[in-house]
Amino acid sequence: MKIIDNLEDGYKILKGSNISSYKIDCEILMSHTLSISREEVLLNLEKNVKKEEEERYFNLINRRIKNEPIAYITSNKSFWKNNFITNKNALIPRPDSEHLVEQALKLVKKKQAKRILDIGVGSGCLSISVLKERPYCKFDAIDISKNAIKLAKSNANLHQLSNRIKFYKRDVDNFYHDKYDLIISNPPYIKKHKIKYLGTVSHEPKIALDGGLNGLEITRKIISKSKKLLKTNGKLILEIGYDQKYKVIESLKEKNFFINKIIKDYGNNVRCIVSTKIK
Ligand SMILES: C[S@@+](CC[C@H](N)C(=O)[O-])C[C@H]1O[C@@H](n2cnc3c(N)ncnc32)[C@H](O)[C@@H]1O
Repeated sequence: MKIIDNLEDGYKILKGSNISSYKIDCEILMSHTLSISREEVLLNLEKNVKKEEEERYFNLINRRIKNEPIAYITSNKSFWKNNFITNKNALIPRPDSEHLVEQALKLVKKKQAKRILDIGVGSGCLSISVLKERPYCKFDAIDISKNAIKLAKSNANLHQLSNRIKFYKRDVDNFYHDKYDLIISNPPYIKKHKIKYLGTVSHEPKIALDGGLNGLEITRKIISKSKKLLKTNGKLILEIGYDQKYKVIESLKEKNFFINKIIKDYGNNVRCIVSTKIK
């Protein structure tokens, strides 16, 4: 069969399973199967696909029917300006988290050599994106999940940054180390009882999503710990849930942080807070 026939069969199957992104998903899965870009798929619709390639493609379609995210099926996700290896051991990098990278790059000038900590490093997408553009900075990165650290190490190797990022498998509660100029964190912030209602997210590790009963358990730990780990005037860049602005600001103020900036995401929800440890 031709590429176009396989795509059209895939569209029908995914559409029938209520997958709204069925078109783009089939094109990505075909591009992954044939190891060519999506553009090349679309430019070669009349080309024939080998039997074994068809089989591989429909296997991927079958995984997608079960709502497995595309990034896990293809083991790849682009974030900020780079590609990252993805797997079920860590959260898939989200476009909304790019705001944290953008804010970090605004705070740190190109030639500055800052010490930065990433709490809950996951795939490593935040630290690696910042390091690639700030050649004199160094990161420490912690995560409670051994497998997330393993993935982040693979991504650091992929981007040849292993010499500028140190990983620690640690609960934020048990991390006592240097003093940092900047802390960046995208913590788990979903309320425990809401996790089961999230579609593709159900394939992602609970430990990356679960913010406890009120959604703020880890965020509050991070704020308390940042007070100890930051230098005076050090900055904290935090990602938060769409409805957590007031509570997080209150927690920050309680710990004597000054609120510098509140940033909205692409859906117009407050998603990121930049603050300064005053004393
Ligand atoms: C929302 S994910 C963020 C991953 C990555 N930074 C990103 O932005 O895509 C949160 C990460 O925090 C880690 N984590 C959860 N609880 C933690 C804790 N108590 N201490 C350290 N890391 C924790 C999870 O394993 C997960 O990798």
